[in-house]
Amino acid sequence: MKEINITTSFTIFENLNELPSDIQDLMNQAVEIRKKAYAPYSKFKVGAALLLDNGKVILGSNQENAAYPSGLCAERTAIFYAGSSYPKAKILKMAITAASDTNQTTAPIPPCGSCRQSIAEYEIKQDTPIEIYFMGEIGEVYKSSSLKNLLPLMFDKKFL
Ligand code: THU
Repeated sequence: MKEINITTSFTIFENLNELPSDIQDLMNQAVEIRKKAYAPYSKFKVGAALLLDNGKVILGSNQENAAYPSGLCAERTAIFYAGSSYPKAKILKMAITAASDTNQTTAPIPPCGSCRQSIAEYEIKQDTPIEIYFMGEIGEVYKSSSLKNLLPLMFDKKFL
C-alpha cells in the first residue's frame, strides 16, 4: 500500500483590476455574454469567453431547459462552438464569470466536472495548455495555468 499526494496550484488575484489588460478585456466579454444567459430555472447566469490563437474570441452562456439535464453550461457552449467552427485553432485563454439573480456571487465559480472533462479534451487535442480564469460577479479571480490543475487523474484517450 502506498499513498500519493497530488499538488495543484492557482494564482489568486484580489479583483479584476489586478489582471493584465488583455485578461480584463476577455473577462469583460464573458460578463457581457453572461447577461444573455438563458437561465430561467436556476437564475444562475454564467458567461465564458475563449481567446483562440487566430485572434477570435468565442463567447458562450448557459442555456437551460425545462428538462433540466438537456441544458448546457456556458463553458461547453463556448468550447463546442470553438471546436466546431475553428477545429484547427488552439484555445489560449478562457475567462469564466457567474452571477446569480438572487444573491451576489463573491466567490470565484470554478467550472463543473463535466466542463472540466470537456475542456481537458481540447487541451489534450491541441497539446498546449489552456489558461483559465474564473470569478463570481465581483471579487477574487482565480487563474489556472492549465486545465490539469482542475482535474488531476483525468480520464483521457490514453486509457482507451
Ligand atoms: N453552470 C455553468 O454554466 N457552468 C458551470 O460550470 C456550472 C454551472 C450553469 C448550469 C446551470 O444552467 C446553472 O449554471 C446552475 O447550475
